[in-house]
Amino acid sequence: MDLSQALIEKRKQSQLGGGQARIDKQHKGGKLTARERILLLLDENSFQEMGMFIQHRSTSFGLDKQIIPGDGVVTGYGTIHGRVVYVFSQDFTVLGGSLSETHAEKICKVMDLAMKNGAPLIGLNDSGGARIQEGVVSLAGYADIFYRNTRASGVIPQISVIMGPCAGGAVYSPALTDFIFMVEDTSYMFVTGPSVVKTVTHEEVSSEDLGGAKTHAEKSGVNHFTASNDVECLKKVRDFMTFMPQNYGELAPTTKFDFTASKTEAIKHILPANSTLPYDIRNVVDCVIDDNSFREVQEDFAKNIVVGFGRLEGRTIGIIANQPNAMAGVLDIDSSRKGGRFVRFCDAFNIPLLVFEDVPGFLPGTDQEWRGIITHGAKLLYAFSEATVPRITVITRKAYGGAFDVMNSKNIGADLNFAWPTAEIAVMGAKGAAEIIFKKEISEAADSEAKWKEKEAEYAEMFANPYKAAERGFVDDVILPEETRAKLIAAFKSLENKAEALPKKKHGNIPL
Ligand code: HXC
Repeated sequence: MDLSQALIEKRKQSQLGGGQARIDKQHKGGKLTARERILLLLDENSFQEMGMFIQHRSTSFGLDKQIIPGDGVVTGYGTIHGRVVYVFSQDFTVLGGSLSETHAEKICKVMDLAMKNGAPLIGLNDSGGARIQEGVVSLAGYADIFYRNTRASGVIPQISVIMGPCAGGAVYSPALTDFIFMVEDTSYMFVTGPSVVKTVTHEEVSSEDLGGAKTHAEKSGVNHFTASNDVECLKKVRDFMTFMPQNYGELAPTTKFDFTASKTEAIKHILPANSTLPYDIRNVVDCVIDDNSFREVQEDFAKNIVVGFGRLEGRTIGIIANQPNAMAGVLDIDSSRKGGRFVRFCDAFNIPLLVFEDVPGFLPGTDQEWRGIITHGAKLLYAFSEATVPRITVITRKAYGGAFDVMNSKNIGADLNFAWPTAEIAVMGAKGAAEIIFKKEISEAADSEAKWKEKEAEYAEMFANPYKAAERGFVDDVILPEETRAKLIAAFKSLENKAEALPKKKHGNIPL
């Protein structure tokens, strides 16, 4: 056999992974193979594989008879929409995609290159976890990856795509990355699987209920984006990357955009005439940003706050909006964690922040207090206060109490704040306020109900508007809803060269 032919044969052997039977099983289970996934993720013909011939060195438990070149993970680099990304894709057909010492070394190598070259890292996870036959060296391999994930945090965007099992400590690499995509029905994540759960807590639960895409999208918030199959998932990742900068020193690319002129009229009619009624804040977002540019993050978790990426005249922005349609948009533990983490990602990667505020305050009650709303609410406050990217707030309706401060108020460093004429900026709602400050007058009145109403109206007249805040400069302008897009475009343009440094320190101490 000539040398070229030998190389071709060696490549073929590596590309076959664990063999045709296991590939067929993977397909039967509704899953693509590691290489098929990479080809769908990256631009055509852009993938450059590294370490195709790497082999493990273990001899225990018959592993010396199970040597497959590549060792269960396909690694390398390529482009998405012309921009370089580094990837690894675990091959479940090779010993269940389990992580050996050499498998981990391959992943670490692309992580190091991604860091040195300031390019995003995308991991396609499909693995039975630590290679059991190898023992501690595979655990050390995981630790090498966790360490790099942490060092890379805030330097390059790190995306984890869960496309199969992800169990044990293996979940902690994805958890250390910025965004997690999960595929419905074929992927799951948990620290301990159903059988251990049954032994320890006597709960009977399926893998899907314990750690499937839906569970992590709705209950834990671990999953940021759900897709119904591998193909859709990889398409979503490609689209998502168009919103990302390559690294912390760059800006996200600008794109062509459309804006439907009729949205300027539509925005006038979103808020109900009765200020106690709910509405969907996403309609406001949609009427302000470029057409079809909103990508909601964690859309099924803590629905009382909406976060996601959008574009204004083709430039990426991060949007954080209270959602009156869910729990009246109140801030609670989950929404504070969700909002805080999103703000910090945007701040780390030069993505300007746009806040839409309609918030009645923090959620009262023993459940929230005992679970630490004080600490968790402070996460959102800390994240905004620390952020140095351009920051703008639009108060559409309620801005009550501590939540007014927290939601990117000027006093915690927002650059420009606007309010619609419907804004109500006060310590609390008029009804509750009247009850507290006019308690005596109300109880002594011949008709207490009427007195209460009168005092409520008095308080509302004084504070249920944006003008007291505008008089004091807590908002920079009162604007009409239909003026919002133009105002925001001009405002973000004015902030394009914003440069603000944090006080010198090792790092802050966010209330974790
Ligand atoms: C070695 C493994 C493996 C592992 C699977 N395989 N997991 N080999 N180490 N961890 C092999 C199987 O022997 C099998 O080989 C092939 O992969 C496919 O596995 P199946 O069991 O046939 O597939 P399936 O029925 O789909 O089940 C998948 C699975 C199951 C749910 C992932 O294999 C499983 O429970 N594996 C063990 C999971 C686990 O406990 N991992 C350790 C977690 S602790 P053949 O030759 O038959 O194809 C951990 C610590 C990390 O990861 C700590 C970091 C801090």
